[in-house]
Amino acid sequence: MSETIDSLLHEDRRFPPSAEFTATSIAKPELYERARKDRLGFWADQARDLLHWHTPFTETLDWNNPPFARWFADGRLNVAYNCLDRHVLAGNGERVAIHWEGEPGDTRTITYAQLTEDVKKAANALETLGIRHGDRVAIYLPMIPEAVVAMLACARIGAVHSVVFGGFSAESLRSRISDASARLVITSDGGWRKGKVFPLKSAVDAAIELSSDGTESTIEHVLVVKRGGNDVEWVDGRDIWWHDVVDSASAEHEAQPFEAENPLFILYTSGTTGKPKGILHTSGGYLTQSAFTHKNVFDLHPETDVFWCTADVGWVTGHSYVVYGPLANGATQLMYEGTPDTPHPGRWWELIEKYGVTILYTAPTAIRSFMKTGREYPQKFDLGSLRVLGSVGEPINPEAWIWYREIIGGNTTPVVDTWWQTETGAIMVSALPGITSTKPGSAQVPLPGISVDVLDETGHKVGNGNGGLLVVTEPWPSMLRGIWGDPERFIETYWEKFDFEGSPNRRMYLAGDGARLDSDGELWVLGRVDDVMNVSGHRLSTMEIESALVSHPIVAEAAVVGATDDTTGQAVVAFVILRAKQAEAQTAEEAEAILKAQVSEQIGAIARPRRIYIVTELPKTRSGKIMRRLLRDVAEGREIGDTTTLADTQVMQVITDKLK
Ligand code: WT7
Repeated sequence: MSETIDSLLHEDRRFPPSAEFTATSIAKPELYERARKDRLGFWADQARDLLHWHTPFTETLDWNNPPFARWFADGRLNVAYNCLDRHVLAGNGERVAIHWEGEPGDTRTITYAQLTEDVKKAANALETLGIRHGDRVAIYLPMIPEAVVAMLACARIGAVHSVVFGGFSAESLRSRISDASARLVITSDGGWRKGKVFPLKSAVDAAIELSSDGTESTIEHVLVVKRGGNDVEWVDGRDIWWHDVVDSASAEHEAQPFEAENPLFILYTSGTTGKPKGILHTSGGYLTQSAFTHKNVFDLHPETDVFWCTADVGWVTGHSYVVYGPLANGATQLMYEGTPDTPHPGRWWELIEKYGVTILYTAPTAIRSFMKTGREYPQKFDLGSLRVLGSVGEPINPEAWIWYREIIGGNTTPVVDTWWQTETGAIMVSALPGITSTKPGSAQVPLPGISVDVLDETGHKVGNGNGGLLVVTEPWPSMLRGIWGDPERFIETYWEKFDFEGSPNRRMYLAGDGARLDSDGELWVLGRVDDVMNVSGHRLSTMEIESALVSHPIVAEAAVVGATDDTTGQAVVAFVILRAKQAEAQTAEEAEAILKAQVSEQIGAIARPRRIYIVTELPKTRSGKIMRRLLRDVAEGREIGDTTTLADTQVMQVITDKLK
């Protein structure tokens, strides 16, 4: 690993912005200067310039009770008003907000005026269903415009949305509903994926019924959008069609202002335990940084650009760069329901040509899989409209970076690699096109107003040329405000490692990523340093998958590792010891199939292991800790590393012999 990192760090290709790009670029070098001189003043300017405040704030940051930050706390605003009404009032009602394309090829064109009306109606419908300020609403939808409408309708009335990715199982949905005590779920009959309708409503039914501890679900109503046309079960009184209550609702709805720190959403993400964390974001700071980054990192010219972020709204990227950033900025964007290869491997490129997409934001996994299918597919289409390319979710290897720029960007577009997390709410480290001379593979430097560093275990700066732990050293506007219902875990997970006693407001945020600073002081993010995997840019917890496996009666013990994968970055590989009786009842192949299905059912298909090895032993230290490093060696087909700290030094021999 360290050898490859060193060779990566010798990357000496540089891509400075062209003079033409710089001439019209939104971000100017003075931004860095302004933020360096007065960080809080800089953010206050952004908040005032980019947003409409019903009541202007007078205080920028309250950091008297770290790590609980309050930004713009005495200001009041309405997030949905900022994303909708004000654009209509400014005369931009006829601008397209969303060009939507369904997987089967059906389309919808939604202007700002139309979207505003749709959200007003939905807000009225939610209020009719008894949803009030502060209530939690779960959203479990495919990539259809109603997902955006539902999120903004919650924001408009001050309810807190919790979007659950449609690929998660009924059990995952159930635990998220119960953790947040959601009163309403908004779902659809189904959605289109890979040429077929996949059901969603049935998972919601199961989630409401399933209840491990016998308690009743907090859900009172299920609001169902008709999309797939598939049959659904119906519970009278509980289930309601979206079109029955939203279409007929009044289109008059005045947005009430809420405090800047009013909760906007909870988004669950995997941590190092079996239980996902409900990351809490609030309104004013979150919207400021989402809008600022969307505008400056992507060089957004809202009158002419067509922006496309390929992420699902079920992930934070979809929250900040499909919904809140682009709409706050009055952008025109493309939203696509389906998969990249349906009905043909060139679908994305066809869409870019069709809609004249100018800015594309996607994940390295997607880029690597397009590299595999071959350049002939993108080359069939005219991609000449593209002028900025973004990458997110995992480290982008220089080879993929160059391919992206050459084949998709026609060798002219800037590529911006953006580092951030569910917890950071918005982009933190990235190039600014028009300013930065980019280096393939490096996430470059913190954005203006953001302070990050790389520290060693004892909290000292590692300095250029060295690696360590990535930290954020100053609070930032879109930072998470906590973990829903668990302030202790919030402190322990992120703020305890670098809690400099005696100066509590010098606490630093631990990102959980390893990083290196190269000799120019530019950042290379190397991946997680904890038991969290990154598969196709999606965060998965080893512990969560292990508990899904051991909850099956045939399993005695399980260990999960993330093994390097050419396309997906990492892949889930499990090592399982079966209970003695079961070990005889089926072959290893049968057990592997049963357990893959178990993980899909418990968590969702995204967590399904690529391989499950049935073994008789697991490598453990004398204190009983599983040595994942050794299992990773097996999973990646490497020579087994140092085994001297194992309780039983023979165990790796037993495992590898068995797998031969
Ligand atoms: C983790 C956060 C950010 C939205 C999508 C994922 C990894 C993210 C990069 C990047 C290297 C990256 C990190 C981070 N990551 N962007 N540009 N280069 N690694 O959000 O699910 O919260 O995952 O994704 O490991 O900690 P998330």
